[in-house]
Amino acid sequence: MTTKLGFIGFGKMAEALWSGFITYGNVTECLAVDTNVSRLRMANEMGVKSVSVADVVAGSDLIFVCVKPQHLADLLGGLGSCSWEGKTVVSIVAGKASSVFTHYLGEKVPVIRVMPNTPALLGEGMTAFCVNTFVSDKIKQVVSDLFECVGRVIEVNESQMHVVTGISGSGPAYFYKIAREIMPIATDADLSPDQAITLIAQTLRGAGQMLMDSGKDPETLILDVSSPGGTTVAGLTEFDRQGLGSAFRDVVNAAVARSQELT
Ligand SMILES: NC(=O)c1ccc[n+]([C@@H]2O[C@H](COP(=O)([O-])OP(=O)(O)OC[C@H]3O[C@@H](n4cnc5c(N)ncnc54)[C@H](OP(=O)(O)O)[C@@H]3O)[C@@H](O)[C@H]2O)c1
Repeated sequence: MTTKLGFIGFGKMAEALWSGFITYGNVTECLAVDTNVSRLRMANEMGVKSVSVADVVAGSDLIFVCVKPQHLADLLGGLGSCSWEGKTVVSIVAGKASSVFTHYLGEKVPVIRVMPNTPALLGEGMTAFCVNTFVSDKIKQVVSDLFECVGRVIEVNESQMHVVTGISGSGPAYFYKIAREIMPIATDADLSPDQAITLIAQTLRGAGQMLMDSGKDPETLILDVSSPGGTTVAGLTEFDRQGLGSAFRDVVNAAVARSQELT
């Protein structure tokens, strides 16, 4: 099935997605509109044709809505008069329910809500998506295949999108923050910043790979690294003494709550 893609908003996330979608064989054309001229220039350099918002809708099968949540109502308010026959909305807008789109665009418009994350830029993204009842199996498969071009994909229920947002949508930033806290410990010991980043990033990557591929749960993997009286146990004892486990739960819950507020 050949597919014409359209982006409304071509910011950081749309750029990351399109740079992977290019590798999907069946895209015949990509159109975009953005209120920011420099973003449109970037889109053009990536082979995307800039047109009006009405022409993005008219000329695309899948319309990716990639604006910030606070810009969505204004955008959708101007789109109700477009014909949505045969179109599917693919929204990456954090927190906004599919009913927000059907409210403005028509109650039977197919809507796929997607929560990607920024490692999509390197083809290492994590995407969760949910569909409303008007999305065909064929379109669902195409969208899943497109996001497979930028990493891993799972399907969830719409009610689970807030928790997905708090875990994988915002998640990269939590790990960057941990990296930022550990960096000075390495550089204070005269490791170069490059060496420090390599130590931290490869450890994160390796731990992620173990979680993904070893078939072991986190508890078992922790035990595998922990010899009695050893260095890991010393670190983990301090981890618990500082209450970092419950602090991390608070971090994720705060992001989930914010996603719920954005609805
Ligand atoms: N970044 C992430 O990690 C991440 C992860 C998952 C999901 N998301 C979601 O992805 C969406 C986009 O995020 P982003 O980081 O890519 O934002 P971004 O870089 O700010 O991109 C949004 C772009 O849309 C433009 N825009 C605003 N209103 C518009 C309109 N009415 N018509 C056309 N273009 C319009 C903006 O232009 P101006 O600069 O002029 O406003 C901007 O260039 C957000 O809803 C966010 O919740 C982001």
